[in-house]
Amino acid sequence: MQGKFITLEGIEGSGKSTNLETVKSILDQYKIDYVLTREPGGGPLGPHLRKLLLDKDQSISPSVEMLLMMADRKDHVDNLINPNLDKGIWVISDRYLDSTIAYQGGGRQLDINLITSLSASLKLPTPDFTLLFDLPVDVALERAKERSELDRFEREPLDFHSRIRESYLELASTNNRIKTIDSSKDFETVSIQVENYLNEFLNA
Ligand code: TYD
Repeated sequence: MQGKFITLEGIEGSGKSTNLETVKSILDQYKIDYVLTREPGGGPLGPHLRKLLLDKDQSISPSVEMLLMMADRKDHVDNLINPNLDKGIWVISDRYLDSTIAYQGGGRQLDINLITSLSASLKLPTPDFTLLFDLPVDVALERAKERSELDRFEREPLDFHSRIRESYLELASTNNRIKTIDSSKDFETVSIQVENYLNEFLNA
């Protein structure tokens, strides 16, 4: 049987990575065999592409940025995501295609149809289940700033991040697979929401 494909999405500082621990512990309870991965950077070419894409000293046009993200994703899908799903192993990815729609479509204001038609031509799989970590942009950016030196995306102004949040919420309103988590709450409350949605998916 095919493995399930789960993705985690959200703006900078939304708590995706912190909540990965909760996701892992639930999958462990169910004794599910899974691999954890992330984008950009999950395929064999990933480390090179990730370094280039996040480099704060690199100037990259919006279209080239989108194409590099899609190239990274195709490499990831062909070499890690699909081979594992085909073996029945579940794949949990920290970011995937919804990130390109939100960041390059919403944030950089590229044509979303171009992204979705490219995705269809490349036969990129659709996730079975997505958790969207959502909170106000100013709160999230404060959290992101506390972490480490800011990358090329984190340096962008507030309105760039606001457009990304809006795009994510728009995606969630039209796609039933996307479950929105109120990430402005304390850790305990957020992990309960994660647990509830994931249990619902696992028992469906
Ligand atoms: P990362 O350090 O992984 O950030 P985070 O912890 O917030 O996930 O950096 C990934 C950055 O790349 C993040 O700012 C979002 C951006 N990104 C895009 O702009 N488009 C994409 O398609 C993907 C996958 C990521």
